[in-house]
Amino acid sequence: MKHTHIFFSCLFFFSSPLTGAAVKQPTILITGGAGYIGSHTAYLMHQQGYRVIILDTLNHNQPWPHQWATLIKKDFADIETLEHIFTTNNIEAVMHFAALAEVGSSVKNPLAFYENNVSKTVTLIKMMLKHKVKKIIFSSSCAVYGMPTTQTLNEDHHRSPINPYGNTKLAIELLLEDCAHAYDFQFVALRYFNAAGALPDIGLGEYHEPETHLIPLLLRAVKNNKRFYIFGTDYPTPDGTCMRDFLHVSDIAQAHLDALTYLGENSASAAFNLGTGSGYSVREIIETVERICGKKIDIIESDRRPGDPPMLVANASKAMKELKWQPKFSDLATIISCAWDFESRRHPLMTATHPQPVAR
Ligand code: UFG
Repeated sequence: MKHTHIFFSCLFFFSSPLTGAAVKQPTILITGGAGYIGSHTAYLMHQQGYRVIILDTLNHNQPWPHQWATLIKKDFADIETLEHIFTTNNIEAVMHFAALAEVGSSVKNPLAFYENNVSKTVTLIKMMLKHKVKKIIFSSSCAVYGMPTTQTLNEDHHRSPINPYGNTKLAIELLLEDCAHAYDFQFVALRYFNAAGALPDIGLGEYHEPETHLIPLLLRAVKNNKRFYIFGTDYPTPDGTCMRDFLHVSDIAQAHLDALTYLGENSASAAFNLGTGSGYSVREIIETVERICGKKIDIIESDRRPGDPPMLVANASKAMKELKWQPKFSDLATIISCAWDFESRRHPLMTATHPQPVAR
């Protein structure tokens, strides 16, 4: 089913130039559009009436049974593919999600991160400039800030990442800033805090393999009767566990739509934090998951995970003012309920694993 869809999608897509008819309808190219945040954004853009082309290798083996976007199963820096997309479609903007994103593996294999995240983005931008595609919305991260020096972070906080993943996100931001300065080119960088939640009725939700994120790991612990390891209980926070700012993935998707409007109405480029401004501790998340799922989790308190800041909470007032963006689905109970709904019905092709750190 999946392969048939990809085949016909590509057939349809690649057949258009044979007829000599380039597609005029404004189209959004979404790199990494089959991933967690990219897929929710692709779905929203489709719902808003945009034609959507997704460029994704599906290397993370996520199923893609959806019919509502054209999927091209190729690397986002494949020159021939980009040449073809840009010459046969009217690409209004690129939304650039494709990236390696696991902080731990970035420490072990930084070259792969620099090559995939930075070098390939240079190629993407070169191809955009060649074809006069002038707008990009980039998935940045609060990882660009490193260790916070203030309770909440605004966009003026200094950018000093503490791992190679964050360094690559910062390198791309700098690349975009320099290109916007030198060329007829505009960007919005959206610095996500902690994405969470799902659209279970559409079959979209958080799935990584291996999974390292707090909420999906807790839900897998409930579903599969596994232990859950708290990484550190001696942080300088009210209950000793780290605090994070969780944002529903649909609210992140909406920010991309708002950023597209912003780029249409302004000649400037800008970076925006995306968060709610409220932090929840790991223990508070555990309690909420247990309440919503109706089950106690077997918790093990273990050592800190290297590189975890005690507290990451956004000041997102700039996005609220300049993008006119407001989180609508990001109360914790809503986030966890729909993530649990997605996890409960998760596609059988997806398997579950859990990292096994040494208990203290
Ligand atoms: N945690 C646990 N046990 C687990 C998994 C996570 O206690 O099994 C804790 C972490 O130590 C951390 C919190 O839960 O304190 C949140 O961890 P996540 O891995 O879910 O998210 P992070 O805050 O580490 O990561 C987020 C984004 C990254 C980004 C990073 C910037 O997901 O993409 O913020 O610091 F790089």
